[in-house]
Amino acid sequence: MRKKIVAGNWKMNKTLEEGKVLASEVVNMAADEAPSDVTVIMGTPAIHLDAVGKLVKDSANVAVAAQDCSSHESGAYTGEISVSQINSVGAEYVILGHSERREYHNESNELLAAKTDIALAAGLKPIFCCGEALETREQGDDVAYKFVCDQLTASLFHLSAEVMTGFIIAYEPIWAIGTGRTASAEQAQLMHAEIRKHIAAKYGQEVADSVSILYGGSCKPSNANEIFAGADVDGGLIGGASLASRDFIDIVKAF
Ligand code: G3H
Repeated sequence: MRKKIVAGNWKMNKTLEEGKVLASEVVNMAADEAPSDVTVIMGTPAIHLDAVGKLVKDSANVAVAAQDCSSHESGAYTGEISVSQINSVGAEYVILGHSERREYHNESNELLAAKTDIALAAGLKPIFCCGEALETREQGDDVAYKFVCDQLTASLFHLSAEVMTGFIIAYEPIWAIGTGRTASAEQAQLMHAEIRKHIAAKYGQEVADSVSILYGGSCKPSNANEIFAGADVDGGLIGGASLASRDFIDIVKAF
């Protein structure tokens, strides 16, 4: 029905040489060990995209994601990377709206709507991140649900049902990112169910059922199986544990 996806987000880690070694290991291990119905994605730093793109070119189940893109097509935007540049190195996916981009680079829901549009227009598949901070969660689960659903409404709900079909969303509670503190499998499932309900209310159940909702936040081989068991959990967006091929592939195998 919907895609199972395990996407790594290397963030600002690995030299080019280290990244090539990691990517080769992931490609080889995924070929031998990954369940055939799981798509494996590596979200690499921009300077790795070309080299890693070449390494995954012939892989049946591994693809590459950029970690961000500019909301502009081209021009005088020093340091930014355009969707056509991402396309030109063969990356298929782009991570958008990661909480680190929202927090450290002031990315707003409006800017992320623009980035989503430009990525989609270029044929890239966004992995759209959402998630609440600890202070929001501490105001109650319903407050957290509303906060996350409002993020999605603001950035995505101008899209057509056709575009939303098969869309990829990553729920990442900010308090669980890189902290070792994971949302419980129950907390993840409950939020994912709320997200799917929210999409269904706007687009209908069929579209909502086609959306892959990934969990991110201190996901590792020891907890992935329990988290992925949630009926609305369709995989993970993995930070720290994607930097070691064995751990990453063990998470891929956790379905
Ligand atoms: O994009 C990945 C998330 O930020 C999760 O990172 O697995 O290191 O907690 P983490």
